[in-house]
Amino acid sequence: MTPLPPLPGHLLTPPDGVLTDIRFRQAIMADCLPLHTACFPEKPFIQFRSGFHHLLEWQKNGRCFWLIGTDETDRIIASGQLVLYPHGAELANLAVIPARRGEGIGTTMIGMLIAVACHLQLPSLEISVAVSNTRVLALYQRLGFTEDRRLQLPNDESAIILHKGL
Ligand SMILES: CC(C)(COP(=O)(O)OP(=O)(O)OC[C@H]1O[C@@H](n2cnc3c(N)ncnc32)[C@H](O)[C@@H]1OP(=O)(O)O)[C@@H](O)C(=O)NCCC(=O)NCCS
Repeated sequence: MTPLPPLPGHLLTPPDGVLTDIRFRQAIMADCLPLHTACFPEKPFIQFRSGFHHLLEWQKNGRCFWLIGTDETDRIIASGQLVLYPHGAELANLAVIPARRGEGIGTTMIGMLIAVACHLQLPSLEISVAVSNTRVLALYQRLGFTEDRRLQLPNDESAIILHKGL
């Protein structure tokens, strides 16, 4: 795939009056360690770093759009991705730092990633969530995603794959 065309600036700006203290931008190589520390500390760093480099390569090749939210001091507080496959696209790696959860940041980021997907004229999106993660499942359902199928994860947990037509 070729790199994504430059996206119009409004796609990196939350709707008017919402989250005015947060800046959004695409992920860059220097984010690896601070992003891990802020949003994914439970993942082994070596494994995280390998996935990070892989997905930044995909971002360079137009297969991933990785949105990062930072606060007024430029600290990373949120992450979310749109990943494009030959026959579909998904939202992944959504995380908001614990101290800033419940303020609407996750909802806003999902809305921004959906707007990027619409701009790219994608027909639909998927998102997956562990069956046990009932609050996140409720959040995705509130945003219009509906259950499509279930999968067994390697750790024996079940995941729900949700779908949303655009
Ligand atoms: C899921 C997540 C990205 C949502 O971000 P957020 O900024 O807190 O979300 P919003 O403020 O827009 O919406 C709040 C809703 O998110 C969901 N939510 C899930 N876990 C939450 C948590 N620990 N704290 C607050 N809200 C949470 C709930 O549906 C909540 O609504 P409710 O209070 O009515 O139950 C964030 O909670 C998070 O990083 N969780 C841990 C990582 C994770 O589970 N990621 C999703 C993997 S599929």
